[in-house]
Amino acid sequence: MAASKLFKNHDHDFCDRKYPVDLTTHDYCLGSLAFGRYGESWRMLHRICSKELLVNRPTNETTRLRRKCTDDMIRYIEEDAAAAHGRGEEGKVNLAHFFFLMSFNLVGNLVLSRDLLSSQSKEGKEFFDAMKEVMVCAGKSNLSDFLPVLKWLDPQGIKRNMVREMGRAMKIVSSFVEERIDELKLPKDKTNKDLLDALLEHTGEGTISNQNVIIIIMEMFFASSETTSSTIKWAMAELLRNPESMTKAKEELDLVIRVDRRVEDSDMDNLPYLQAEIKETLRLHPALPLLIPRNSMLRDQLFGVFDTQGDTDFELIPFGSGRRICVGISLAHKVVHLAWLACYITLTWSLGTTCAPKLSI
Ligand code: HEM
Repeated sequence: MAASKLFKNHDHDFCDRKYPVDLTTHDYCLGSLAFGRYGESWRMLHRICSKELLVNRPTNETTRLRRKCTDDMIRYIEEDAAAAHGRGEEGKVNLAHFFFLMSFNLVGNLVLSRDLLSSQSKEGKEFFDAMKEVMVCAGKSNLSDFLPVLKWLDPQGIKRNMVREMGRAMKIVSSFVEERIDELKLPKDKTNKDLLDALLEHTGEGTISNQNVIIIIMEMFFASSETTSSTIKWAMAELLRNPESMTKAKEELDLVIRVDRRVEDSDMDNLPYLQAEIKETLRLHPALPLLIPRNSMLRDQLFGVFDTQGDTDFELIPFGSGRRICVGISLAHKVVHLAWLACYITLTWSLGTTCAPKLSI
């Protein structure tokens, strides 16, 4: 499809969203940035979130957090493999799980300044479990989206599960929000503000209710964990199943990182082959191949909008484009590259004996 033409000439006409039935649960869609209708409220939330995720935090602070979360991930992987060896097993590791943990914990650090997966955080573990369930429910295809008459019947029980799990996650986030509201009442100068601070302290036009704050915080986990982790997982899998690419990547790495040292974000600038690997992964395995559903704001004249004759401009848009482009794009880019590089460089990889060379995940 002529994506570039659509986004260049008709971005405004298609920047509204359509939300699935499951996300009407607890009025999630009404406070959501990703599924929210295009309008003043969306613009305000979009401004705050993109500023907070892209600009507000000092660069070395976000770099430190990315570093910390990837280091933790490598440690968890090593411990898991060692434990498996200890039990006399082959040492197979469920990588996707650790990538997910890392993405989740990074967002927790960035938006809530909480290390949710540390052993001291009981609510963190509960929140993680609840959010995973919410994502499982949201990932299921719901018949009611295709046959609205079934909405009230909820034949697959997806909405019922969603009500329960989302309610559980919201309750936990609500306790984080209340705790922060109390903290903000204390006369204390906070240097590193996070997204939660930005949402609670918003004073400009438009108001953000506490319910809305809870939804936006949940959404950051929702939008980032699976997308980021599945991209890293596929990048790893593609390299493992292509020994030629693996050799080239290794040669490039050996040239750039000569001494035994930790990899840094900045190393990626000198690794064009590896960057191309990630780009190719995003092309072959886009986390959201059809983006998030758009709603046309055109009353009529739909015909003629898609005049694709002679158009061969197929752009790579794994993060979408236009007004509704992914707000986490810059964070996602950095974390995918860093996590993947850290895994590649620190650990020794091989396919398990039960995997076919052309493995599929
Ligand atoms: C590799 C990782 C990621 C991929 C592939 C990805 C992809 C996407 C895509 C395709 C969209 C829909 C864009 C459209 O409809 O045009 C989107 C939207 C969004 N993403 Fe991401 N994303 C990633 C990571 C993240 C991260 C890390 C965050 C935040 C921490 C995030 C937050 C969002 C939000 C809030 C939206 C909704 C934007 C809106 O509707 O205004 N994403 N993402």
